[in-house]
Amino acid sequence: MSVYSRILGTGGFLPARVLTNKDLEQIVDTSDEWIRERTGIRQRHIVGDGESCCDLAEMAARRAIESAGLVPTDIDLIVVATTTPDQIFPSTACLLQQRLDIHGCPAFDVQAVCTGFVYALAIADKFIRAGTSRCALVVGAETLSRILNWQDRGTCVLFGDGAGAVVVGAAEEPGILSTHLHADGAYKDLLQVPRGIGSGTCDGDPYMEMRGNEVFKVAVTTLGRIVDETLEANGLEKSDIDWLIPHQANTRIIQATARKLHLPMEQVVVTVGEHGNTSAASIPLALDTAIRDGRIRRGQTLLMEAFGGGFTWGSVLARY
Ligand code: ACO
Repeated sequence: MSVYSRILGTGGFLPARVLTNKDLEQIVDTSDEWIRERTGIRQRHIVGDGESCCDLAEMAARRAIESAGLVPTDIDLIVVATTTPDQIFPSTACLLQQRLDIHGCPAFDVQAVCTGFVYALAIADKFIRAGTSRCALVVGAETLSRILNWQDRGTCVLFGDGAGAVVVGAAEEPGILSTHLHADGAYKDLLQVPRGIGSGTCDGDPYMEMRGNEVFKVAVTTLGRIVDETLEANGLEKSDIDWLIPHQANTRIIQATARKLHLPMEQVVVTVGEHGNTSAASIPLALDTAIRDGRIRRGQTLLMEAFGGGFTWGSVLARY
């Protein structure tokens, strides 16, 4: 009999400190009105001193495991999507494994920037379908505030910190219906942190740089294509989608994808206003929000899609 994977539980965590657009007006030459009109963002959460990416991941992971009705030792695979690991190594997944007091199962990080969670969920799905894992913890966790140049108004107003997690388990019925992953490094210069330790030293500031306008245009057309690819692969019509759970970069990008799907905004989960762009954490945070407030119900068809630095992009179609 075929084995599929299915979402068993979800969890999310946001740091306590809230940074509003008004607060940002004190830091850079911007306005609440500009930020809301161009992005839909009203506020974002920012980690406090001493708060780590693994701290956020642990809280989200514990909530996801609890909502699945499981205990940490039931987990036999940990995949963490992050662009902001606490250390170069061990991976955030290994740090999380230690926090959860789980020993021996594979644990690794995935770096696909804002598409990281989609990549991580696709990988976990493949481990489960291959029979290598029965119960996977998939986390998106970010402390993006630490790689922002707080003098660059073109980027610092867009991002926030947080973590989201799902537990996926083996099932006889799908669950995850299909996954679609892509990348094209030709776009590497449009969105990047151009520093690393490749030369043995980290010279200059390791902050994000973005050509926002160009990113915007490629994101809209690419996400339109991934929607078509996903529907076609499953022989589905646009009307078969109950919920769009997009990467939360910008309401205008989200609205463009919703229009492509002929989906009213009531069927789109939008958290960017409160969370900002939390990169790999944004989809699992949005998913958890809409499951906990009762919007998303068992049996519904969910389309998750993301686009991010690299460029990377992808989607997961799932029956919840
Ligand atoms: N406040 C006020 N003015 C600003 C700000 C700001 N925070 N940032 C830029 N501006 C100014 C610019 O300097 C420019 O001024 P000028 O006309 O005098 O030169 C003007 O606003 C327009 O700038 P644009 O960059 O053309 O504005 P645009 O409408 O494209 O909006 C934005 C900018 C919001 C960044 C948009 O391009 C966008 O959302 N792009 C996608 C970015 C994104 O989502 N990236 C992440 C996706 S992938 C991932 O999640 C990692």
